[in-house]
Amino acid sequence: MRKTGPISDQLVDRVARSKSLIVITGAGISAESGVPTFRGESGLWKQYRAEDLATPQAFHKNPNLVWDWYSWRRETIARSESNAAHLAIVELEELASAFLLITQNVDGLHQRAGSRSIVEIHGSLWRLRCPAEGKVFENLEVPLSEIPPHCSCGAILRPDVVWFGESLAAENLKEAYRALEKSDCVMVVGTSGVVQPVASFPLIAKKRGGLVLEVNREVTPLSPLMDECLHGNAGDLLPPLVEAVREAIGSRA
Ligand code: OAD
Repeated sequence: MRKTGPISDQLVDRVARSKSLIVITGAGISAESGVPTFRGESGLWKQYRAEDLATPQAFHKNPNLVWDWYSWRRETIARSESNAAHLAIVELEELASAFLLITQNVDGLHQRAGSRSIVEIHGSLWRLRCPAEGKVFENLEVPLSEIPPHCSCGAILRPDVVWFGESLAAENLKEAYRALEKSDCVMVVGTSGVVQPVASFPLIAKKRGGLVLEVNREVTPLSPLMDECLHGNAGDLLPPLVEAVREAIGSRA
């Protein structure tokens, strides 16, 4: 792990020369938008038990309780705005030769900022799914008019998110692995790096000689595996990094 102070020219140059750039994000990128993270002192998993709220068993046992919690999260996020880090990633997508954003976030703030090439690997709070028919609906209603919401078939709809003990959608995994297998630069932003399989994604690119870079407030279990770690708020670090990448690309043109 090389810890950098100011962003080095060498780092900027490698990002600017990338032919296939991947950004992986976690809850930390939305922290500066006022969306709570999961771990850490004020994280959601300090206040709530994941087993009671984010498992298929919890939903089966008490769909109202699960929906109260998801509805509260939807309301919090609806009041939030994308921040400078989300916007910097949009700019990076515009600059990159090939680009994919893989987010663990279900908040939709990347799309609100303007990101287009995105895999929501843990699903979205803004889609509901019928467990009986498998149909998926977009639903942006805040607050929800009915808790729990129902499908026209009568079944109780669930949030279209990945719960503990569930598999990730095969098509999302396929898209992520396809990009990771040809990526020469992976930027990991605002994730504690403890939830698989996403935690192991950067290693796929690293094994092939790609640059792996972490942006986080803290040292994480991924930090020792990184080529570079930038420590601080994503909203402070990403805009100047992306600006420097823009200048480096411009100066070569
Ligand atoms: P975590 O809450 O585990 O980690 C958030 C990370 O963001 C921590 O490493 C913080 O240090 C960092 N962080 C906080 N504020 C930051 C800021 N302003 N700038 C940069 N970094 C910052 O969230 P995730 O890693 O996303 O899964 O959690 C992974 C998964 O665990 C989630 O998708 C969710 C959760 O259980 C499911 O629900 C399936």
